[in-house]
Amino acid sequence: MIEQIEKLVDLAWQTVAATPDFLTGKPVALPPRIPTEPGINESRFSDNFPALQSLADAVKLANENSLSALASAFAAVEPSLRWSQNPTYTEENAGRALLDGYAYAPCSGPDGPIHCAVPRGGFMLMGPNVTYPPHNHAPREIYLILTPGTQWQLDHSEWFDVNAGDLILHEPWVAHSMRTTDKPMLAFAGWIEAGDRLSIGFNDQ
Ligand SMILES: [Fe+2]
Repeated sequence: MIEQIEKLVDLAWQTVAATPDFLTGKPVALPPRIPTEPGINESRFSDNFPALQSLADAVKLANENSLSALASAFAAVEPSLRWSQNPTYTEENAGRALLDGYAYAPCSGPDGPIHCAVPRGGFMLMGPNVTYPPHNHAPREIYLILTPGTQWQLDHSEWFDVNAGDLILHEPWVAHSMRTTDKPMLAFAGWIEAGDRLSIGFNDQ
């Protein structure tokens, strides 16, 4: 199964490389993989995150849109992935709505299943009508959106609509927030620079 996860990750990063950044129109440079030792545990894993109730709808929606090949490759591998949340997120800093509204399935990163420091990548699921509050971190990050109906906000500015096939780049420390409407969101999300997932900070204004 690790071979299938490798193929999924390769397809995801090839798609990222072929897609210009939504805002600047420029391609995003991707780093070579830097291996790391297994054993780092920076995720809270569970099979019971409430957001997973939206998984089937999100996959169906993604399959009906422009990145359907990536969506179907993800769907084939998904049963062997583990869903996680950032263990630093609490009701106090992230809010109950986010804890009930998102889950992340890492494919590559410090705690696997492909062990590497960079690039890390995995699939982000958000249920409908969920806001991921403004937060930031040092490593550059990309989101490759697989579903329509989500809005994005950078640096506390105006919200804008994103669609399936869009690539959003988060520069270092730029606050970013996303919110779903009546549809769930599925996206491939990755850090293209090494960093500590536990250092993500919320910065509501
Ligand atoms: Fe981020």
